[in-house]
Amino acid sequence: MKVFINKRIPETGITMLEEAGLEVTIPENDDLSREEWLQYCKNTDAILNVGANAFDHEFFEQCPIVKAIALFSVGFDHVDIKEATKRNIPIGNTPDVLSRATSDVAFLLMQSVSRRASFYFQKVKDGNWGNFDPLYELGQELYGKTLGIFGLGRIGFEMAEKCKKAFGMNIIYHNRNHNEEVEKELNAKYVSFDELIEQSDVLSIHANFKVEQSNLFNASVFERMKKNVIFVNTARGGFHHQKDLYQALVSGQIWGAGLDVTNPEPIEDNDPILQLSNVCVLPHIGSATIEARNGMARLAAENIIAFSKGEKMPHIANP
Ligand code: DGY
Repeated sequence: MKVFINKRIPETGITMLEEAGLEVTIPENDDLSREEWLQYCKNTDAILNVGANAFDHEFFEQCPIVKAIALFSVGFDHVDIKEATKRNIPIGNTPDVLSRATSDVAFLLMQSVSRRASFYFQKVKDGNWGNFDPLYELGQELYGKTLGIFGLGRIGFEMAEKCKKAFGMNIIYHNRNHNEEVEKELNAKYVSFDELIEQSDVLSIHANFKVEQSNLFNASVFERMKKNVIFVNTARGGFHHQKDLYQALVSGQIWGAGLDVTNPEPIEDNDPILQLSNVCVLPHIGSATIEARNGMARLAAENIIAFSKGEKMPHIANP
């Protein structure tokens, strides 16, 4: 069986595939245009895909021989899952192995914004150490504050647990469904979406993104948030309206924002949000640790290997 991998992944995944007798193709130049990527996809049985290439109507029409897709990501918002399922194509993903790493980034952004770390670091780099000033660009402490989690799944749980341990934060969350086990473990309270946005001192997004939720966090939502709220998004940029977020930040309607994802992505070079002192932006590095990336390579390879043996993928987005 032929497997196309569009970008080099940790060796462990490639070795697993080769030891399973699969024919792996990885292009020398791994910065493929959409056309080049489709060209490779047309000639393979299975795809191990790194990044956000859209598996949309065009893909499924042009690549009829592809029988399986293993994503090198937990998110699958770039895949037309309905179409894949209709065509009997399993879509594998990589849950769990990146939950710690991604929640670490949410925690890091929260702290960085609460103490204006990226702003101060930039000042030091600019040769502008400054004098001790009792009133200048003060941070805020997080002890005993309320963390609101939007989407309390695996990553949201890890974030909540860290915030509880480190700062004794109260946890509230909003999900489609209650999760009673987790409520007990974290002493977390289920709240409506309105309560979540009105009561959180830190609001952190950890839900799977669906297109219906585009720009869910917009001007009318930012307006109802607390003035001291730190808005954290490590899930998908599509959840927030970037210009409305800028307005809320620049007008002091909300206190700060930590973003590992932006809308659009990559962020535009001249996005004014980059000039604000109450913002920290990272380039979608939630899973960028050696441990998480090795885990992702292993899970993606396990998915392809299981499929090649006629078995169900062990980590699947369209069961
Ligand atoms: C994921 O795994 O979904 C990360 O966000 C990388 O896309």
